[in-house]
Amino acid sequence: MVDQLAARTTHLVFAALWAGSVCFVAAVVLPLARDGAFNTTRPLEVISGRLTTVSRVSSLVLFLSGSHLAGTTYTVERLFGSVNGWLVLVMVALWLVLTALVEIAAKRFEAGLTGKKIREPAREALPMFWAAAVAAVGLLVVAGLLSANVARLL
Ligand code: HEM
Repeated sequence: MVDQLAARTTHLVFAALWAGSVCFVAAVVLPLARDGAFNTTRPLEVISGRLTTVSRVSSLVLFLSGSHLAGTTYTVERLFGSVNGWLVLVMVALWLVLTALVEIAAKRFEAGLTGKKIREPAREALPMFWAAAVAAVGLLVVAGLLSANVARLL
């Protein structure tokens, strides 16, 4: 019981933290960098580094807490044979996509920044950050469907 409470709360907190950080960088920081609002690369290197750390920690915590929830509240039959089970599998697939997109996008962005260029690497990295933001919002939509127990309505 306590483990469920801890796993659900941790899962929710890190989901919000991760999705929020990715969306903020994609919607605010990179467009500003592309439009020339920064005149040194340093703040962007720090932001990108912090985002990578938040992403790695969140990815691990969500994997562990999510695996615990799946392992304790689902059977293999329910996981592969019910609407809620499929939603959990979609969540796992999107988790993998989001982890990979943030990792690759941040790495490419930082590599581009080293030549004192800012606007060009920001423009090039934007589509990948947008894709990551879409995956993050998609995860929250899937979570909303699970929370509302959408299977009940079908
Ligand atoms: C390997 C990765 C993951 C696994 C195995 C996993 C698994 C689960 C499971 C089993 C549940 C409970 C479903 C139910 O109540 O029937 C859940 C809920 C949830 N998950 Fe995930 N998840 C993962 C990744 C993520 C990610 C990346 C996010 C968002 C960024 C996320 C956000 C949520 C949210 C917000 C809930 C709803 C919590 C609640 O209402 O109690 N999950 N997840």
